Amino acid sequence: MSIVEKAAEKLKSLQPEPPAPRLEEPEVAVLPRVEGPTVERLQERIRTVDEPAGKAGQPWHVDQHALQRAGLLPVEDEAGGRLADEVRRAKRPLLDNLGRADMNGPARAERIMVTSSVPGEGKTFTAVNLALSLAREPDFEVLLIDADIPKSDITRVLGLEGKPGLMELLADERLRPANVVVQTDVPNLLVLPAGERHPLAAELFGGQRMEYALEALGVRDRRRLLVFDSSPLLATPESQVLASRMGQIVMVVAAGCTRHHEVNSALNSLTASQYIGLLLNMSRLPAIENHHYSHYSQPSHYLFQDR
Ligand SMILES: Nc1ncnc2c1ncn2[C@@H]1O[C@H](COP(=O)(O)OP(=O)(O)OP(=O)(O)O)[C@@H](O)[C@H]1O
Ligand SMILES: [Mg+2]
Repeated sequence: MSIVEKAAEKLKSLQPEPPAPRLEEPEVAVLPRVEGPTVERLQERIRTVDEPAGKAGQPWHVDQHALQRAGLLPVEDEAGGRLADEVRRAKRPLLDNLGRADMNGPARAERIMVTSSVPGEGKTFTAVNLALSLAREPDFEVLLIDADIPKSDITRVLGLEGKPGLMELLADERLRPANVVVQTDVPNLLVLPAGERHPLAAELFGGQRMEYALEALGVRDRRRLLVFDSSPLLATPESQVLASRMGQIVMVVAAGCTRHHEVNSALNSLTASQYIGLLLNMSRLPAIENHHYSHYSQPSHYLFQDR
């Protein structure tokens, strides 16, 4: 054996044995597609939820006095009765559109979004009263969804702050609607809280998972209506994205307040495929007309004249 061959043999004997091949690769954690510090926080909170919200024990109590104190529900007097009638009138065309789904009615008519051009026009008030009124219909179940992520008034007034909601459902692919939908003690009324604020709310509303969530939230053996409270169309990008996924839009207009060009811009941000109902709110007309409802197939028309 030459010197070179001897050196090679020596070197070989000093090499450590190669490790035995593994039979199984270690499991790789599946990460959700959306990443970032906020999402990590959301996931941390989701891990703390063992039971579907509202299913663990009693249904969630809807505190009607808290809603009244917050100005979101009228007291049960004569004016409250008149408002209930106005809401009844306002819901009728929305219900009629559900029956027209196969004909020339809007697609996805069960997705109803309450919105407005600018803040403070009565969106949350209308969404709450519309949802309660629809829940009294014998053939439907209503899921009231707090999609006003920046304000989350419904979530706060119902005492659902800190619970996972729409944002968590969209940010974590492992989460199912049953983990976040809250069963309430109002017959046929469920609530989906907003969840934690998220800087990418518009992107989440526009993502594929939003469509999955909407399908999953709506599918039931009973007919389920989705009523969305939202932020103003001209104030946040996510509302316009959300509107594009809806079948019906209730556009609240504060009488004598909202400017002509604001309503016009908001209507122009919507697509022509949706049914759009304009609801004239807080008008000084006689009480019976205070919640005046009008509907438009083309968003280029509007209800009132420039001031
Ligand atoms: N038809 C109505 N009758 C009596 N009060 C109303 C009516 N509509 C709205 N309000 C009152 O007006 C105020 C604003 O209403 P609401 O919070 O529903 O507006 P919003 O459009 O949701 O506002 P934001 O853009 O801040 O979310 C509330 O104090 C509410 O009580
Ligand atoms: Mg609101």
